[in-house]
Amino acid sequence: MCNVGRGAVRWSFLLCSEYSWPHHVSPPLASYIPRMPASNMNQLLLSPRLFVIGILAFSLLSIHSVLHRPQQIPFQGILRHDSNHTVRNSATGFKAISKNLEAVHNSTLGFQKIFVINLPERTDKLDTFSVVSSLTGFAVEVIKGVKGRDVQNKSLPALEGLPTAEAGRNNIVGCWRAHMNFAQTIVTNGLSSALVLEDDADWDVTIKDQLRAFASGSQFVTAVPKGHKPHSPYGDDWDLLWLGHCASTIMPDHDRRWVIENDATVPDPKHRVNFAGIPDMAASGYDNSTRVVYRASDGVCLYAYALSFRGACKVLRGQALRKTFTPIDVGIGQLCKEKEFKCISVFPQLIDSHKAAGRMSRDSDIGRFSPSEVRQKGFTYNIVHSMRLNMDRLLTGENATIVRQWPDDPIIDGPLRQRPMGKRTE
Ligand SMILES: *[C@@H]1O[C@H](CO)[C@@H](O)[C@H](O)[C@H]1NC(C)=O
Ligand SMILES: *[C@@H]1O[C@H](CO)[C@@H](O)[C@H](O)[C@H]1NC(C)=O
Ligand SMILES: *[C@@H]1O[C@H](CO)[C@@H](O)[C@H](O)[C@H]1NC(C)=O
Ligand SMILES: *[C@@H]1O[C@H](CO)[C@@H](O)[C@H](O)[C@H]1NC(C)=O
Ligand SMILES: *[C@@H]1O[C@H](CO)[C@@H](O)[C@H](O)[C@H]1NC(C)=O
Repeated sequence: MCNVGRGAVRWSFLLCSEYSWPHHVSPPLASYIPRMPASNMNQLLLSPRLFVIGILAFSLLSIHSVLHRPQQIPFQGILRHDSNHTVRNSATGFKAISKNLEAVHNSTLGFQKIFVINLPERTDKLDTFSVVSSLTGFAVEVIKGVKGRDVQNKSLPALEGLPTAEAGRNNIVGCWRAHMNFAQTIVTNGLSSALVLEDDADWDVTIKDQLRAFASGSQFVTAVPKGHKPHSPYGDDWDLLWLGHCASTIMPDHDRRWVIENDATVPDPKHRVNFAGIPDMAASGYDNSTRVVYRASDGVCLYAYALSFRGACKVLRGQALRKTFTPIDVGIGQLCKEKEFKCISVFPQLIDSHKAAGRMSRDSDIGRFSPSEVRQKGFTYNIVHSMRLNMDRLLTGENATIVRQWPDDPIIDGPLRQRPMGKRTE
């Protein structure tokens, strides 16, 4: 809903779904992913084997699926972790706190609450969102989207930087206010952390398993002290977790990463789409099925992100002090540059924005498309087993088959591997 892209014009703002997607922009972020030692490069794709995933049964709060291989085996998502739910780090002795990782499977994905931003008149978006979130097994509360025209100039931190055209002003201001309301809800309710999604967000059907790996990464990148049991499965020393972005840079002098390899939910490089360039993972020594969790120093697009209580306070304070008005995602990206605002990000991103089949005018809340433009097939960039594209199958069949968006891509089979990279302490 609220996306501020770096389009052809740098930082030009095209708001609330009013963006265009520059496909495969050549990477200006050459240093995006630092090179890793060549010795770590030997993990390549395993033998391809067809997999099709089926659903054994689902309740409103959980999905239990099986792999349709020659023989069916019980299955809790495409990614599997070892039965003890621990992630070992041979290099540094780092071990994510296994008991805490369990919480990412709960109905708020390990956060205290989850919210979705939805404009009250877009009931259709909320209808679909409620189905996909409950199929996935998480529960949300609604934060009402805000119309920019309802936000007075005097309640803005600055007027400088506002678009002069009224439509532009209203979009940028409406998005800003909705996200501020999210941060404010965290603070006024004393929530330890909360995740927010835009109402057209989409994710992999195995998001809970992905988040489990991400949480290990977040614990490592934020250097949870040895023996310390954090309250949050993601660790307790972060301000923002940027799960759904359309570009996010690695903090240059921060060398801790969590490397997740052999991940069947990583899109093939040719299917990666970012606003601000596609990081060249291969040039950095990562293979095609690797995902990395890292400390971010910038980002764009707020498809989904979490704030800790501390992070929410900093966002509210940081925005109030602004001298120029900035689109909220750009403003949050700028906060991530600060040493004292800890943003943890992941590439490829875990959550993206779905473009539904049907009338394209429905994408937009301010009418960018003509009513006659129709999209034949829905899609979501960067998401392999799109929840939305599998929704009907999951709803209609006890043993539904999960399809991949890009069925011709190489099959990534075998267990997930995870390891830390970089120093144990800051
Ligand atoms: C899980 O833990 C048990 C007991 O601590 C151990 O015997 C077993 O090998 C572990 N399994 C894995 C996959 O690490
Ligand atoms: C899920 O886990 C988090 C972290 O432990 C916790 O704060 C939250 O209350 C849990 N959600 C539910 C619904 O129990
Ligand atoms: C709000 O501020 C902008 C920028 O200064 C200005 O163009 C606009 O007319 C103002 N709107 C109102 C309603 O005062
Ligand atoms: C990685 O993906 C790219 C783009 O699809 C492809 O050209 C390349 O061969 C792949 N590398 C491996 C090792 O499969
Ligand atoms: C779903 O799969 C299970 C396990 O193979 C099987 O027992 C069950 O009959 C199937 N249900 C349907 C409706 O096909």
